[in-house]
Amino acid sequence: MTAHEMEEVARAMIALGKGILAADESSPTIAKRFAAINLESTEESRRAYRQLLFTAPGIGDHIGGAILYDESLRQATDDGEPFAEVLEKNGVIPGIKVDKGAKPLAGFPGETVTEGLDGLRGRLEEYADLGAKFAKWRAVIHIGPDIPTPAGNNTNAHGLARYAALCQEAGIVPIVEPEVLMDGDHSLQRCEQVTSAVLQAVFDALFEHRVRLEAMVLKPNMVISGMDAADRASPEEVAAATVQCLRRHVPPAVPGIAFLSGGQSETEATQHLSLINRLDDAPWQLSFSYGRALQQSALQAWGGKAENVAAGQQAFLKRARLNGLARSGDYEPSMED
Ligand code: 13P
Repeated sequence: MTAHEMEEVARAMIALGKGILAADESSPTIAKRFAAINLESTEESRRAYRQLLFTAPGIGDHIGGAILYDESLRQATDDGEPFAEVLEKNGVIPGIKVDKGAKPLAGFPGETVTEGLDGLRGRLEEYADLGAKFAKWRAVIHIGPDIPTPAGNNTNAHGLARYAALCQEAGIVPIVEPEVLMDGDHSLQRCEQVTSAVLQAVFDALFEHRVRLEAMVLKPNMVISGMDAADRASPEEVAAATVQCLRRHVPPAVPGIAFLSGGQSETEATQHLSLINRLDDAPWQLSFSYGRALQQSALQAWGGKAENVAAGQQAFLKRARLNGLARSGDYEPSMED
């Protein structure tokens, strides 16, 4: 794709009313999700589940892009149609997770660095041939009393920037995901301080590496209290702090920001997105790229049983529709019923 085409794809992934389905769980992660519904993770059960999601009737109404994992980009429906083609046909742009996971950062206890740059140029070429139009790389930032350090943040920012530059060279739109984890009992203010430092390092690195900001999507965490915080900030406080932090660090050339859900419940993630979109006009689209917050109730409704595929699809489409409404601030918790 040319630079202009990449810009169009970036905008289409997060067009008004739409967001991204993160269905790129690695094999160990999807095994954990399946264990919660007492289902064994096999190549076939993973294929059946991804088929449920990707063929949900009307998926393209509120889902603009779907992130796949290496295995699923090579899989097909019962009729033998590759998933990437089915998604395109249903109006959803297919993408691919290309990082190889977060590993301990030598010399910095508690911090991680995301691996996967070696050989990435060749893998991107193959993924483009398989139909991927965008990619995802996730850096993971842990909050602790003395972490993250500047060295940890800069290392992860460097990885994200090199990945993004390689993607654009291959004609693939990069989703740049620096995730500050919700794990811990930290306050919203501490999350804001860390998210600020992380975003600053990331955009410095993207600039140095000549990444075209118009042809990428940022996937950040919301600014939110730690999962175990005694006194958690209200949804309104989360929305205000999130938008303030992004305004300070994300250039308006970036077309869109698609939040990860990061362990928020389905309803929390939707409510936060809606409140965020009710605030003053932002210079970017504010959308979603949820994994768990789009899939939790779908997995429960399906339970791994063929007779429950339609129920699983309905549960997934309900989340997609409500998050689609949250894209313009029109979601109300009462709509859950
Ligand atoms: P969650 O929305 O479950 O955090 O997953 C999004 C994602 O893609 C994490 O990399």
